[in-house]
Amino acid sequence: MSDITPPASSLARHGTQWWREGIVYQVYPRSYADTDGNGVGDLAGIIEHLDHLGPDGLGVDGVWLSPIYPSPGFDVGYDVSDHSAVDPLLGTEEDFDRLVREAHARGLRVILDLVMNHTSDQHAWFQASRQSREGPYADFYLWRDPAGRDADGNPLPPNNWLSFFGGSAWEYEPARDQFYMHTFLVEQPEVNWRNPVVEEAQLKMVRGWLDRGVDGFRLDVFNIFLKDPEMPSNPELEDLAEGTSAWDRQEHKYDRDQPDFPELIARFRAIVDEVPGRMSVGELFYGGPETSASLSNQNHLVFDWELVRAPWSAAEYRALLDRRQAIFGDTWPTVVLSNHDQSRHASRLSASAGIDDTDAVARASAAVLLTLRGTPFLYYGEEIGLRDVEVPFEEIIDPPARRVEAGWVWWNRDGCRSPMPWTGEPGHGFTTGRPWIRFGDDADTRHVAAQALDPPSVLGTYKRLIALRQGRSSLRRGALRRLDIGGDDVLAYIREADGEATLVVANFVQQPSTVDLGPAGDGPWRPIGGSHQDPSAPDADGSLALRGLEVVILARG
Ligand code: GLC
Repeated sequence: MSDITPPASSLARHGTQWWREGIVYQVYPRSYADTDGNGVGDLAGIIEHLDHLGPDGLGVDGVWLSPIYPSPGFDVGYDVSDHSAVDPLLGTEEDFDRLVREAHARGLRVILDLVMNHTSDQHAWFQASRQSREGPYADFYLWRDPAGRDADGNPLPPNNWLSFFGGSAWEYEPARDQFYMHTFLVEQPEVNWRNPVVEEAQLKMVRGWLDRGVDGFRLDVFNIFLKDPEMPSNPELEDLAEGTSAWDRQEHKYDRDQPDFPELIARFRAIVDEVPGRMSVGELFYGGPETSASLSNQNHLVFDWELVRAPWSAAEYRALLDRRQAIFGDTWPTVVLSNHDQSRHASRLSASAGIDDTDAVARASAAVLLTLRGTPFLYYGEEIGLRDVEVPFEEIIDPPARRVEAGWVWWNRDGCRSPMPWTGEPGHGFTTGRPWIRFGDDADTRHVAAQALDPPSVLGTYKRLIALRQGRSSLRRGALRRLDIGGDDVLAYIREADGEATLVVANFVQQPSTVDLGPAGDGPWRPIGGSHQDPSAPDADGSLALRGLEVVILARG
């Protein structure tokens, strides 16, 4: 065990329901902190910065690590060649065990990213499987015979399924005279979950990580684990807008969301549930809030992407929250604005509203994110208002971004994966070497050290908002009631639990706006936080004058 005495209060915080009441912070390990000077972040770097996350820092509850397993890196870690080991690029097995101990000592839970839909083509299973139609691994992947031969005798793919990263989903393997299926890169063959031996091997691997003290998992693209066993071609959609990607021109009827998936995921969840307080969150690969709600359950969350897709507009947020309420009901949702696949929200939301001051949008959106109903997932760097980084084409690492197809260019995910700037020094406290992705142009001034000394900064705002949420049961677990007060540019809602009420009033535009708090019910209402360090207060008549892009959080009394 670690020699660090755990802070009892934080360890006990939220009990076994921590995943519901707490806050999860996503670390992209390659971009967090590099301790060996090779330009790539590592586990030791994460350990060095756990205090940024724990009770002496942001005060979050769980850390989700994007994949840490050995990988040839074609999909930057999402192509795994050994699911039970640590990538030597990131550290040793002992580094990982130390990370778990050190995180636990700070009351932080550790969530691993499990990539179980596919493996790397370098995985021992696939290396064996591709060689022959016989043998123990022959049926570990989705192999199918060619549909026929073209005029030149070339094998034709078994059906019309496509890769999300472009091109056919089928790759021919001469050694078997068969095709294997891949939703992502050719280097990421899809495993055959319908083979019970595969399921057993996957669940054994899951148990291995749980035995090492892991508290939960994020499940990569979990709703595509199962395909229709017959693998028919997907229906082609017609009359679509110009520029629609080939992928979106199909109805993905047979290659995702199969009716027997809930039974499969229940078998996985039963293992996680053997110890109270463990959790999982499924990554929905395509699909709306209905699918997310239907696959969520008591201890298990499922992402839904409506918030990520929504522009920064009060009207859009009002409609979205009403829809979310109607669909989720009592089911517990997630609240996410950014992750390693999306444009960073400081950039994305500001651009969507034509606002240049990305910090003002970062502060206002943080106040909404951390007061909505659901488990917030933060993405490293958003707490200092990091923006998308422009990466020139020659430097692009994200593989699909290097492919250009007719009428469709993949968004370069390197832009949201730039290294964390910790300081203003050369290398920004991230590395002494050459960073694997370039820093943003503003890293000399936008870094953790500077914002830590500046209470009104984005970091100061995140710290205050997190502390506020952690201290109020209405914000952590309360129901959400939306209020139609203020003008078109205002979003307002009340969170209520245990006899406590919290009112949130958000002005989405740069112009000031005045809101009559009367319809919020008996006051007086007192500001307790928000996007600004000095939140505006209502006057004696209950009229609240909000500054541009100001969110005020109020308590009764
Ligand atoms: C998920 C990951 C993404 C990855 C893909 C394939 O969507 O979030 O980064 O490329 O799965 O594993």
